[in-house]
Amino acid sequence: MQSKNLALVNATGRQAASVARVASALGYHVQAHVHQPSHPVAVELSQLDNVILFHGSLEDRNFLDRLFKGVQRAFINTVSFGDELAIGKSLADAAKRAGVQHYIYSSMPDHSVFDKGWPALPLWSVKFTVENYIRQASHLGRRQHRPDRTDQSLLSPTRVCFLFSRALRRKVTYHFSPRIDVEVSVPHGYREQLQGIELLFGTFRAPYFGLDLDSGENMKTVEDGTDKGGGTAVAEARSLWGGWRGMEEYAREVFPVEEFHNGLTWMKEESDSDLEADTRMAKSGMDKNI
Ligand SMILES: NC(=O)c1ccc[n+]([C@@H]2O[C@H](COP(=O)([O-])OP(=O)(O)OC[C@H]3O[C@@H](n4cnc5c(N)ncnc54)[C@H](OP(=O)(O)O)[C@@H]3O)[C@@H](O)[C@H]2O)c1
Repeated sequence: MQSKNLALVNATGRQAASVARVASALGYHVQAHVHQPSHPVAVELSQLDNVILFHGSLEDRNFLDRLFKGVQRAFINTVSFGDELAIGKSLADAAKRAGVQHYIYSSMPDHSVFDKGWPALPLWSVKFTVENYIRQASHLGRRQHRPDRTDQSLLSPTRVCFLFSRALRRKVTYHFSPRIDVEVSVPHGYREQLQGIELLFGTFRAPYFGLDLDSGENMKTVEDGTDKGGGTAVAEARSLWGGWRGMEEYAREVFPVEEFHNGLTWMKEESDSDLEADTRMAKSGMDKNI
C-alpha cells in the first residue's frame, strides 16, 4: 500500500534497526539506507518482509533522491560520523523534494538556548540546529522527535526502575550521582560530551529534554504514574506510529538482547527470588518519589 512506505537512514543503528523490524512486522514497505550491506544487521534486515536495502552515501544528492522516492514517511536518525549538520540539512531537503508527508527526525535539545548558564552538549546541539532547519521547511511534519520520550513515554527515573524490576524480575534501583567516572576508552570527541553531561545533569540537574518539552501537559504521565501517552508529544507520536512499545515491554523483550550483544551475561543468572518483595519496595519508593 502506497501510504505505508517508509524511508530510514543508518538502518544498522539501534534506533533505525528497531524501527525497521517493527515497521516490517506492521506491513510497511521499508527503504533502508545502510553503509555496509554485509554488516550482520544489514543482512538480518534484508531478510525481513518488504525491506529493501539502499547502499550509498548520505552526502550524495542523487542517492538521497532514490532513497526517498515514493515514500510518505521517514524516520531519520543521523550520527556524528561525517558532517552531521550538512547531512541533516540535505536529508531534509531531499525529503521535501520527494514530497514526504511525515518526517520524524531523531533530535536532541541544545540546553544553552534556555539562558541559564547550561552548556550545549556538542553531539546534541548539532541535532537541534538541524531540527530548527527542518521546522523552517514548512511542508515537512510539524513535530520533531526526541529519542526515549516518544518511543517509550515520559517517565521518572524511579518509575523506570519499577518497570525494569517488574520486567526483569530483578531489583533495579535509581541512584543519582553528580559525577561520571570514565574508566574505559571512549571515541574521539565523546569525552567532551560526557564532561558536558556531567555538568548539565550532575551539577545543574537540568531537565533532560530542556524546558520546552519537560513542562506543562507533558508532565502529566509522570505525576499520575500512568503510561497512557497523555503528553502532547507522546500522544501525537503514537497517533503516527502504531509500533511504539512501552518501557516495561522494552525492558523485557529488547534490553536483555542488547545486553547480551554487549557481552553481558546477567540475564542467564537466576532472577531475584524475592521479586514480589522487591516490586512492593520499588512501588512504594515510586509512590513516594514521583
Ligand atoms: N541510542 C540512544 O538511545 C540514543 C539516545 C540519544 C541520542 N542518540 C543519538 O543517536 C545517534 C546514534 O544512534 P544509534 O544508537 O541508533 O546508532 P548506533 O547503534 O550507534 O549505530 C551507529 C550507526 O552509524 C553508522 N556508522 C558507524 N560508523 C560510521 C562511520 N565511520 N561513518 C558513517 N556511519 C557510521 C553505523 O553503520 P554501520 O553499522 O554500518 O557501522 C550505524 O548505522 C547518536 O547521534 C546519538 O547521539 C541515541
